[in-house]
Amino acid sequence: MTEAPQPALLLQARGLAISFGGVHAARDISIDVYEHERLAIIGQNGAGKSTFLNMCTGYLRPEAGQVVYRARDITRLTPHEIARLGIARAFQHPQVFIEHTVLDNLRFASSACGGFWQGWRGVRSPRYDDKARELAALFRLESVTEKRVSETSEGTRKLLDIAMALALEPRLLMLDEPTSGVSAEDKFKVMDTLRDALDIRGVAAVFVEHDMDVVRNYAERVAVWVEGRILAAGPPDDVLHDPRVLESVL
Ligand SMILES: Nc1ncnc2c1ncn2[C@@H]1O[C@H](COP(=O)(O)OP(=O)(O)OP(=O)(O)O)[C@@H](O)[C@H]1O
Ligand SMILES: [Mg+2]
Repeated sequence: MTEAPQPALLLQARGLAISFGGVHAARDISIDVYEHERLAIIGQNGAGKSTFLNMCTGYLRPEAGQVVYRARDITRLTPHEIARLGIARAFQHPQVFIEHTVLDNLRFASSACGGFWQGWRGVRSPRYDDKARELAALFRLESVTEKRVSETSEGTRKLLDIAMALALEPRLLMLDEPTSGVSAEDKFKVMDTLRDALDIRGVAAVFVEHDMDVVRNYAERVAVWVEGRILAAGPPDDVLHDPRVLESVL
């Protein structure tokens, strides 16, 4: 009998710890992330979910522990260096240019991959068009490319922000609350689009999520944060029925 191939390890967090004043936002956080998987992080407000993403992407330096990405220690690298190595980050509030069009935002992200700031005229140069339009298609944004971002829905902005993060062609995307602020009727559309885009590009994702319907439908694995620790991790069907999780989180 042949064994199923092991999924390749992408990111390892080992014993991460950090505190703010007296608050332990992370104590001995260890978890692995595998190529192509979608891992959801759940937990109450203040449990340390965003802190974990920040430590993995260079926005916070852990006081103890290591972050290893594809066998390389990235614990002390800057956000910029980590992004270049292939870990993209998207925040709870989309980091987009609200007074510019959707397409210009995508052109900006495409131009930022290879160069220095050339002003918006430079950004609109035809050389960035193909990549920008490819991202628009991947994220089903073609019908809104000429709209100003300020005139679009929160769901569109979330997708635009993530599309921009993918311009750097990461292998891993770390997302804080992709459906927060998105209307109930849009949230599954946003998540379907995101899942398909990740699949097409072969990108793994770690996403913080408060909506258990989203977790059940889109995560292959879920990890539960409680007061800076991981209480449980595994398939959603197991973890979301774990009595300890039901008691302390859900
Ligand atoms: N830069 C910081 N300075 C001071 N305290 C911080 C900082 N970042 C996080 N904290 C504190 O660390 C704890 C964990 O915060 P974190 O933002 O990681 O929680 P979270 O699980 O993302 O919560 P939420 O669901 O509300 O987003 C909180 O008590 C928070 O106030
Ligand atoms: Mg948070």
